Amino acid sequence: MVRASLQALIDGELYVPGLSAEYVSRTYGIPIGDVAKLGSAENPHGASPKASAAVEAALGRLSLYPDWTAKDLRIAIAEKFGFDPDGVVCGSGETELISMVIRAFAGPNEAVLMHELCFPLYRIYACCEGRRPIYAPMGKDFTFQMDRYVALLKQERPKIAFLTTPHNPSGRLLSEQDIRLVCESADPRTLVVLDEAYIHYSETAGSMHLLRDYPNLIVLRTFSKAYGLAGLRIGFGISDNPALIDPLRRIKPTWNMGQLQIAGGVAGINDDAHVARAVQTISDSRTHVEDQMARMDRFRMVPGSRSNFFLTEILDPALGASDVFDQLLEHGVIVKDGNDIQGLGNRYLRVDLNLKERMDRFLWALSEVRIASRA
Ligand SMILES: Cc1ncc(COP(=O)(O)O)c(C=O)c1O
Repeated sequence: MVRASLQALIDGELYVPGLSAEYVSRTYGIPIGDVAKLGSAENPHGASPKASAAVEAALGRLSLYPDWTAKDLRIAIAEKFGFDPDGVVCGSGETELISMVIRAFAGPNEAVLMHELCFPLYRIYACCEGRRPIYAPMGKDFTFQMDRYVALLKQERPKIAFLTTPHNPSGRLLSEQDIRLVCESADPRTLVVLDEAYIHYSETAGSMHLLRDYPNLIVLRTFSKAYGLAGLRIGFGISDNPALIDPLRRIKPTWNMGQLQIAGGVAGINDDAHVARAVQTISDSRTHVEDQMARMDRFRMVPGSRSNFFLTEILDPALGASDVFDQLLEHGVIVKDGNDIQGLGNRYLRVDLNLKERMDRFLWALSEVRIASRA
């Protein structure tokens, strides 16, 4: 058997994306400009202007096949971070790289380690490919319990160990010490995958420097968040060990990156001003929302997020996540329902940080939430 059975595929979990502003506007009759879209962790300022201009300029090349390894983009990324272009592989968003990593580095029924609460696509792709997800538990308020993670790593010797920093959906940041501990505790045949999709919002440089110390480590990043290019679909994997990148290059769909993705990525990777603007907006909004939510008694901001979203805990026992989610929608606010995120459940919502006026709409909508029998 090379993959899960067709029936297992059909019965498997589907990713639940955040709703669109158009849907909420149409369904609830709210002007689209008033909808606060806080369920997909997108950039509050839109796309990188440098990337947008480069995409427009590349329209004349649409009839030509792109370089199948996205060479120009690999060179631009390698130069930005000081690595060899042969240590970079590009994908149609990080999601494509996650699926490639699972196919290349784990065999049928082999274990893939992740946190019990994590970005659902690690689990979904592992299951689709007939790999075996195993889960490390998390502590109170979704703190990392790295002793438990490392114990599983040693005991189960998974083929792949996923880590996310900042974590989705808790937003918590892993310490360098913990990442080193995982790389050093892993069996030499275990690939450690560090997903840094949201790293800019932590206002740290991230962990690429660790690549030089650990030949079993690969870092994944995306252009969907701080660069504002979720619609263009660009992600990359980087390692100081070309032996980790070579299988990914072989397994990827040959021309997985189009002319527009390559051109947009080359320009976007150096749009530091756009990234800095988004980071500042998120930081200001985090402080504002933290301050406002500290005054609430029915809802609580789960502490510790260093990302562009945070978890809201529902303290009122008469309310559940889907109730609150639905009522927020009626007020033109889109968040993520904890019931749609395995491991999160009925007491939590995941909410993006965004422009202040959108966060004020969220705070107002929360204050309007009613319990059905008291409405
Ligand atoms: C932790 C994490 N990794 C990867 C991704 C996927 O990003 P991309 O848009 O590059 O596929 C997401 C998107 O939500 C994410 O939350």
